Amino acid sequence: MTVTSRLVLIAFALALGCGVAALAAAPGNPTPVKESGGIWTDKDGAPTFNIAKDGSVDWGTFVGFLRYNDACLRCHGPDGAGSSYAPDLTQALKGIDYAQFIAFVAGGIQAVNTAQQLVMPSFATDKNVMCFIQEIYAYLRARATGGLGRGRPPKHAPAPKGFDEASYKCLGIQM
Ligand code: HEC
Repeated sequence: MTVTSRLVLIAFALALGCGVAALAAAPGNPTPVKESGGIWTDKDGAPTFNIAKDGSVDWGTFVGFLRYNDACLRCHGPDGAGSSYAPDLTQALKGIDYAQFIAFVAGGIQAVNTAQQLVMPSFATDKNVMCFIQEIYAYLRARATGGLGRGRPPKHAPAPKGFDEASYKCLGIQM
């Protein structure tokens, strides 16, 4: 993943997040087709996981695990499994494609007409989330459809060259 494409992605996410629409679609076949900058994509270009026979996960999925723990776990529970407050994402992600996922995360969700006021905050301006939205999606997709178990993935592929530089640049951190 190059610096430019990460920044373009954020602009795209911001635009999408402005009008959370009901465009729910089931994600397609998660089979990994292509890798770029440590992130695998499926035939539709959506981020996906690549788990080796020995259980080792790709770098993007591993980063997604770390970033999920940082930003989402406090509401959605460990391993995306849900809590009394927020839904089980290992189930939800079976029916949410990447575009819808970005729209939810960037735009937030506020349920109306429910007895309990549940609020999913907007992360549109949170670079710690938006710079790693592909990785978080890949991780949750692996949990939902890839048979990735609970807990920290036991093994992972090494960081690809340039990953840290691209991340710092996206986060606006001087190296
Ligand atoms: C402050 C608590 C909170 C945090 C933090 C949070 N969420 Fe949520 N999220 C919610 C709640 C509550 C809902 C359900 C909203 C509703 O249905 O009204 C939700 C819903 C969702 C949904 C839609 C699920 C469905 O069933 O359609 C997705 C996807 C999602 N969150 C992803 C994330 C991701 C990814 C992160 C981390 C970047 C995150 N959330 C962080 C509270 C949170």
